[in-house]
This record gives sequence, C-alpha cells and structure tokens, in this order.
Amino acid sequence: MALIEIDNLVKTYDLGEVKVHALRGVSLRIQEGEFVALIGPSGSGKSTLMNTLGCLDRPTSGSYKLAGDEVAGLNPDQLAQMRTRRIGFVFQSFNLLSRTTALENVEAPLLYNRDCPRHERRARAAGLLAKVGLGERLDHRPNQLSGGQQQRVAIARALVILEISTRGRAARSWRFSAN
Ligand SMILES: Nc1ncnc2c1ncn2[C@@H]1O[C@H](COP(=O)(O)OP(=O)(O)OP(=O)(O)O)[C@@H](O)[C@H]1O
Ligand SMILES: [Mg+2]
Repeated sequence: MALIEIDNLVKTYDLGEVKVHALRGVSLRIQEGEFVALIGPSGSGKSTLMNTLGCLDRPTSGSYKLAGDEVAGLNPDQLAQMRTRRIGFVFQSFNLLSRTTALENVEAPLLYNRDCPRHERRARAAGLLAKVGLGERLDHRPNQLSGGQQQRVAIARALVILEISTRGRAARSWRFSAN
C-alpha cells in the first residue's frame, strides 16, 4: 500500500460564471520514505494539489487515500483531525505565531490531539527543539530568534506530528544537521 494514493483527482474552483479547472484528473502514488518534488509552470495547480494532499482543502471529485484512509470526502473538522495526526508542514514563510515562544509554537500542532496529554506535548516539543539546536531558546519569541533559528522552529513544529504518529512503532530515525 502506498502512503499517498490519489486517483483521478479533480479540483474545480467555481467562481459563478467562470469555472477554473485547477486539477483535471490527477493520479499518483507516493511510497513511504519516498522524496518527491512537484514541479510545473505557474498556475498549473501545484499549490492546489499540495493543499489537497495536506488535507487543507477538499477535491471536487476523485479519491485520495492517505495511509489507506479515504480522505477526499471528509468535512473540515475531520480534515483538521487528519492534519493533527498525520501531516507536518514547513511553510515557505514559516508562519510562526509571533507572540508565542518557540516551545509553544512547536506544541501548537498537538493542541487539538486528544491523545497527547500536556506533559507529553511539552516534553516532545522541548526534545525536538533541543535536537535542532535550540534547547537554550525555548522561551524566545520568533522576533528574538535569527532567521535560521526561526526556520528550525518551523521544522521542529512539522516533525512533532511525525513523532506522535510513529509513537509506539519503532520510530524511524531521522537526522538533522544544524548549520
Ligand atoms: N481559490 C481559488 N479560486 C479560484 N481560482 C483559483 C483559486 N486558487 C487557485 N486558482 C486558480 O487555479 C489554478 C491553479 O492555481 P495554483 O495556485 O494551484 O497554481 P500553482 O501551480 O501553485 O502556481 P504558482 O507556481 O504560481 O504558485 C490557477 O489558474 C489559479 O488562478
Ligand atoms: Mg503555488
């Protein structure tokens, strides 16, 4: 079973008189552990596809199975549950919460995960920040961090979901070199 399986995915933005066909029947499989880059001209639908794969938006039709679960028809609350369990995002512009500390930023994706109690949330977030070389910066807000440090907070925030979702299974190893 592929980790990501999409079949005949269609996304049409309906602007009333005009319909924009952003995805016209996309099918692809991505295996666990595979690294994939999505390339194409401006306006070709990359962000639309990423928003769908990231469970931020739903397709107009077609099938999307994430780790075997059909998610194409989920409502926004169900998609949010899926994101909090399965998906880590590193945004191009980081999107850190400006009035919150590094630690709270990394904890944030787990706030809505009922299976992760507060003490575990704290411990995992602090542990990941230490791994990306920010163990001494837990209480700094984004504007008290360098650009590269902010980027590492964003990476730790994406990895926290991965840690929770592999909890109990033999955690796959990943390495991060701070530069
Ligand atoms: N919310 C929306 N409503 C209507 N049309 C949209 C919407 N979002 C995107 N589109 C249209 O859908 C098409 C695909 O857009 P998308 O943002 O997925 O492209 P992209 O490949 O990410 O482009 P870029 O490389 O410029 O970021 C474009 O023609 C765009 O104008
Ligand atoms: Mg884009």
